Amino acid sequence: MNEDKIEEIIGCHGTDKSKLITILQDVQAEYNWLPPDTLRHIAKRLQVPLIDVFGIATFYKSFSLEPRGKHLIRVCLGTACHVRGGPRILETAERILGIKADETTADYEFTVEGVNCLGCCALGPVMVVDKEYYGKLPPTKVEGILRKYGYTSTSSNNGGET
Ligand code: FES
Repeated sequence: MNEDKIEEIIGCHGTDKSKLITILQDVQAEYNWLPPDTLRHIAKRLQVPLIDVFGIATFYKSFSLEPRGKHLIRVCLGTACHVRGGPRILETAERILGIKADETTADYEFTVEGVNCLGCCALGPVMVVDKEYYGKLPPTKVEGILRKYGYTSTSSNNGGET
C-alpha cells in the first residue's frame, strides 16, 4: 500500500463516514482493487468498524478484493448479447488470454469478466475494455482489440496458445 496516496485520497474527501464509498471508489480507480491493508487504514482514519468497510467493499460489484489487471475486459452476457454471440466473445477472450472469467493474467495486465446488460443492447454483442465500448463484435476481432491494449502472446497465462 502506498500510504501517501491513500492519505491524498482521504485528504480530498475528508474523514466523515459519509465519504467512505467515495474514498473506496478512488482507491479502486487507483489500484484496480482494494488491498486489505488499505481497507484497514481507511477504517481507522474514518473511525468506521472494519467489518462495515469490508461489508461495503463486498456488497458493490464494482469493488474488487482481489488484485485485478491494468485493463478490465467486460463481456456482456445479457439476453440480447447472449443470443447474438456474447458467450463466444467471452470464450474467445478467455482462450486468447489463457484465463477464465473473473481471473487475471499472471502479469496483471488483463482481467476478464462476463457481466449483465450494459445498457446498449442494440450494439450486441458488446465487449468493453476499460471504458471503451466495442459493439456488433465478431469473435475474430477480439484479439486485435486486445492488442491495442498491449496484449502480446507473452501477456497470457498460456503463452498465447490458441
Ligand atoms: S444485453 Fe448486452 S448490452 Fe444489453
